[in-house]
Amino acid sequence: MPRQRIIIDTDPGVDDAIAIWLALASPEIDVMGISVVAGNVPLEATVRNACKIVALSGRDVPVFAGAAGPLFRNQVYGKYAHIGAFSDDLVPAATLQPQAEHAVDFLVRTLRQAAQDNDPITVCAIGPMTNLALALVQHPDVARGIRQIVTMSCAFTALGHRVPWAEFNIYADPHAAETVFTAGIPLFIMPLDMTFQALIGNEQTSGLRQRAGKPGKAIEALLQAFDRSDKARFGRDGGPVHDATTVAWLLQPELFRGSAATVGVQVTGKTAGYTYADFYGKLAQPTNATVMQQIDEAGFFALLDRTLSVYGDIEGDAR
Ligand code: RIB
Ligand code: CA
Repeated sequence: MPRQRIIIDTDPGVDDAIAIWLALASPEIDVMGISVVAGNVPLEATVRNACKIVALSGRDVPVFAGAAGPLFRNQVYGKYAHIGAFSDDLVPAATLQPQAEHAVDFLVRTLRQAAQDNDPITVCAIGPMTNLALALVQHPDVARGIRQIVTMSCAFTALGHRVPWAEFNIYADPHAAETVFTAGIPLFIMPLDMTFQALIGNEQTSGLRQRAGKPGKAIEALLQAFDRSDKARFGRDGGPVHDATTVAWLLQPELFRGSAATVGVQVTGKTAGYTYADFYGKLAQPTNATVMQQIDEAGFFALLDRTLSVYGDIEGDAR
């Protein structure tokens, strides 16, 4: 199977880091660039985090700084925004700098070339979708360069976690999400409904520490520093690794079960960011997305361990 060409649009973020390390570890994936947006933390911190993540992978992939805030609504960040960038004890310092080109310009240039080459690219959208929306609004022709959008976002049957009515990536920029949802591009959504089914715990992180080299050690440290567990909510230990499910779907789609739906988002009012999925044609509108509703949790963590172990193999060979 030819390598999948992807762009990762991200707001690192612990789960973003795992998704990025997973993609960069995979021989089946060619990461053409990483476009960064404000979200979990302010833009200067998400850019710093992205550079540290790429540097620790040992891969040569360009990082581009993008939108510092949403299209229209007021800025909101994740619950750890006060932390800022990952400290050096969690993810080692790196000299890697972002490219001078703005992330939106990178997206437009690269997607236009992909359209000309008739070799469209998968966009893995794991943060607020401001960069992607800006590219599509300014230059709608870039849609022809996008094979599919795989996004970690939305909450349909699960309650949101940043606010009860919305998942964070949508809540942070609902107008951007609406632009993406209505662009007519094949859309695959990994909502909280599904990501809450796969909870990473000490068993998985200790295995990654032992087998996945420096990224494995960083993953354990990050998950210990930024506790994502919620036993009251999940009824068991462990926390979700939302964003990594997008890359896992690209690598092993059989781990997931999903259905076609008409997906929409509320962009104004008290519950802006609320998303709905019409699985049963109630709106008599064409479906615009495939929504993943189930994940094979054990298979997902086996994929993570197997794929991320390449970092340990590389470091072992280098010794
Ligand atoms: O709601 C979870 C999403 O919001 C994840 O992408 C997380 O990194 C944050 O961006
Ligand atoms: Ca994210």
